[in-house]
Amino acid sequence: MSKIIIFDTTLRDGEQSPGASLDPNEKLQIAKQLSTLNIDVMEAGFPITSEGDFKSVSAIAKEIRDVSICALARAVDKDIDCAAKALKSAKSPRIHVFLATSKIHRKFKLIKAKEEIIKTAVKGVKRAKKYVDDVEFSPEDASRTEPDFLVEVVEAVIGAGATTVNIPDTVGYAVPEHYAAIIKNLRDNVKNINDAVISVHCHNDLGLAVANSLAAIKAGATQVECTINGIGERAGNTSLEEIVMALKTRKDFFKHTTGIKTKEIIATSRIVSGLTGLRVQRNKAIVGENAFAHESGIHQDGVLKESTTYEIMKPEDVGLPKTNIVIGKHSGRHAFKKRVKALGYELPDEELEHTFNQFKLLADKKKEIYDQDIEALVQNEKSEVPNIYELDSLSINCGPVPTASIRLRVGKDKIVADSTKGDGPIDAIFKAIDLLTGIKGTLLDYNVRSITSGKDALGEASVDVEVEGNTYRGRAVSTDTIEASAKAYLNAINRVATKHRRKKST
Ligand code: KIV
Ligand code: ZN
Repeated sequence: MSKIIIFDTTLRDGEQSPGASLDPNEKLQIAKQLSTLNIDVMEAGFPITSEGDFKSVSAIAKEIRDVSICALARAVDKDIDCAAKALKSAKSPRIHVFLATSKIHRKFKLIKAKEEIIKTAVKGVKRAKKYVDDVEFSPEDASRTEPDFLVEVVEAVIGAGATTVNIPDTVGYAVPEHYAAIIKNLRDNVKNINDAVISVHCHNDLGLAVANSLAAIKAGATQVECTINGIGERAGNTSLEEIVMALKTRKDFFKHTTGIKTKEIIATSRIVSGLTGLRVQRNKAIVGENAFAHESGIHQDGVLKESTTYEIMKPEDVGLPKTNIVIGKHSGRHAFKKRVKALGYELPDEELEHTFNQFKLLADKKKEIYDQDIEALVQNEKSEVPNIYELDSLSINCGPVPTASIRLRVGKDKIVADSTKGDGPIDAIFKAIDLLTGIKGTLLDYNVRSITSGKDALGEASVDVEVEGNTYRGRAVSTDTIEASAKAYLNAINRVATKHRRKKST
């Protein structure tokens, strides 16, 4: 049983999912949970793309010591230098250099001949090698690259010092037999292939990312690039939880292990979906709400008699608690703290105290408190956005002309108040907030969902708001969905106000 290296790219390719951008604090939270999950390599970002990404990679490199931290760079000097700078304090840094190799990309995107591609790739690897020992190279769009040319590129970059060669199916075009054949061809024909790890990176455009990765493992790949909940560009990437549980459940067939602490899978999935705002579909394998739910009477009867009749994995193995009603009104600080920790969060004392008070308020309104409720409260608390504007009170008149009357607290003692009409109550609320804050937002997306079941369930509202050409996400929870909506919108507006303040003070 040899070990497959789990390379997680949730914070890089995953963050490229439309609408998933994370701030540096949110990235650090996810990074900490990924380290608890015990991944081997964490692709923390693409530092040249923004100051925020550079800062995130630097902060993660400083803080996370037990995982190799990787930064992405095009085969361009300034990208590689920037990646190296961001990784300066990493204990085990890796630079990941990429350059497209397929005919389509060469002809239309790069306008470069084959020889020039090889020269640029080799130069990029050599430059990265000046900074770190651990260099990964990806021939982008490898699955649509001519097989012989791919052999040439891979051999050249290994010769230049690449320690991992990653073979991306960038556009999700491959099918399992085809992808396995690409890996086999490299193993058979690249003379120095044993000097590097063969890695795979699949996109899910045809829903085949996990199947392709597994086929590649069968053909000899020993690193898999993947993301939590399978998030990523377009239809996403290979899902970490699926690949890991497939290897574990079918170790009889694959004969490989991973170092992943599978009991941390659910906690990680929930943190990622909570912070990115990308909900997990109910029937998603491993982490979807229905993944371990049996609806048919025949199945339920079978599972009660012997769980293996219909369950190929134990829910506990992925961290799903047997019963997730956790604590209630009478639970104390200690039980609360223990549960927060078990869910994968670490809160400083002050934040813990505040969240505990929120929990007590919630427990007064809601009979049963579930893990999801606690997670929602913690994520609310962990939101780094300063509350420049806070909701003081809200009342709605839903008559023929819906009207919202809102009072906002600004700073410690100032109160501002106004009433506005709207097309509906939510529209009226958002307009009133615009008026009171002087920040005019355009609502791009608005969602309300209940976090648990029952009439008294905690509701979560999330919004995407465009202000001055930028999109800001806001989220909030409350047992009152109207209040949650107002607070979510205010959360997004507070992000804008914070940015305005920072700009003014620089
Ligand atoms: O899909 C892809 O080709 C990539 C590379 C940067 C590895 O994400
Ligand atoms: Zn990708």
